[in-house]
Amino acid sequence: MKKVDVILGLQWGDEGKGKVVDVLTPRYEVVARFQGGPNAGHTLEFNGEKYVLRSIPSGIFQGGKANIIGNGVVLDAVLFRKEAEELARSGHDLTRQLSISKKAHLILPTHRLLDAAYEAAKGSAKIGTTGKGIGPTYTDKVSRNGMRVGDLLRADFRAVYAAAKARHERILRSLDFAYDLTELENEWFEAIEYLKRFRLIDSEYAVNDALKADKAVLAEGAQGTLLDVDFGSYPFVTSSNTVCAGVCTGLGVAPNRIGEVFGIFKAYCTRVGSGPFPTELFDETGAELRRIGHEFGAVTGRERRCGWLDLVALKYAVMINGVTQLIMMKSDVMNDFETIRVATAYRIGDRVTDEFPYSIDADVEPVYTDFEGWRCDLRACRTYADFPEAFKRYVDFIERETGVPVKIVSVGPDRDETVIR
Ligand code: GDP
Ligand code: IMO
Ligand code: MG
Repeated sequence: MKKVDVILGLQWGDEGKGKVVDVLTPRYEVVARFQGGPNAGHTLEFNGEKYVLRSIPSGIFQGGKANIIGNGVVLDAVLFRKEAEELARSGHDLTRQLSISKKAHLILPTHRLLDAAYEAAKGSAKIGTTGKGIGPTYTDKVSRNGMRVGDLLRADFRAVYAAAKARHERILRSLDFAYDLTELENEWFEAIEYLKRFRLIDSEYAVNDALKADKAVLAEGAQGTLLDVDFGSYPFVTSSNTVCAGVCTGLGVAPNRIGEVFGIFKAYCTRVGSGPFPTELFDETGAELRRIGHEFGAVTGRERRCGWLDLVALKYAVMINGVTQLIMMKSDVMNDFETIRVATAYRIGDRVTDEFPYSIDADVEPVYTDFEGWRCDLRACRTYADFPEAFKRYVDFIERETGVPVKIVSVGPDRDETVIR
């Protein structure tokens, strides 16, 4: 019986998961998303075209592979419809290729309003969410108040919706949040009808049947390990388990059925939204990383905060996920840098540690190791032998520190700009 391979982010999201899933999909027959929702923005580039996917798995562009939205995902019918219709307009009709778990939870219009209301109530302590209703939807799931995709088929769907809406409206009123639901609601009910043209399935059976039939399955993560609700920089995190364990609960895969774990990281670090970021750069170098790396959110267009690679956090992420292969992205962004810094430890008061602490607040001061820049254009490289020695020294160091091989190096946004060792 085959195992499920997993691709997930090791930092604060936007590592390049979409690109790598697309590159690796030819090796697989099924690609499945296991958590998150339209807070994700996964960018793919090939043949001069660029696509940003939010809820739809990144395996849809590689020749009719089965793609699944798993039970761990939260789905906004309106945004899903927009995404699917846009793809259909560009010639990718997904109704045969894509199926959706009946156990995935629905993001209701009032969940989005609640997201905004909770953020406003937090004031300067706000999380800086994507405003897609993620937190309130997962809250309802865990408090056993949620609505699931399978509920679309219930005769009393509208009544269940009305009860949820009434509950949400009571909270919105208590938070003094002004809103107008009419248009949002009309759009949502239309989108709910649109959802019915897709196969709504028991995805845990689909995935396990594929494994039994010896089909290769790839699980695609959203967000990143440092945004995981248990292990991330709480409370500045998302509301799902972004780590490898999320594949078990988000797709119904037993732990002993997990195969390779591909951990993706950028050669530097970025973060969107609020929360601590020990290696953040507030100077010209940070601005250069943002400018050259086009570090602006794929979903919200917000500026991404930029900083040096943080090996304390990376080693933590490797440990929590059981990463078996590393994938390094966006090294090309630092092509012209004279010096490249990597945090190898944190100084906290008079203590130095290479363990990721309970809290990474202002008291954490990174301890850096400096590397000479490679000062050449990595985007032209297509084999590992093409890379300059200075770059290989950087990769060797990361491998030594993490104890995991770097198997893929991405040198540009395009599908073809990828070096596989
Ligand atoms: P995801 O959310 O993990 O899928 O990542 P995003 O799509 O949000 O952000 C990654 C961004 O980097 C996208 O704009 C990609 O097109 C781009 N990208 C991916 N790999 C590379 C790379 O190796 N070099 C450069 N310069 N850009 C890349
Ligand atoms: P992908 O899959 C980067 C961040 C938000 C915010 C926090 C909580 O493209 O890597 P939420 O809306 O989830 O309640 O927001 O998490 N965040 C992401 N940051 N990439 C993402 O997804 C993100 N999804 C959520 O900015 O700080
Ligand atoms: Mg993204």
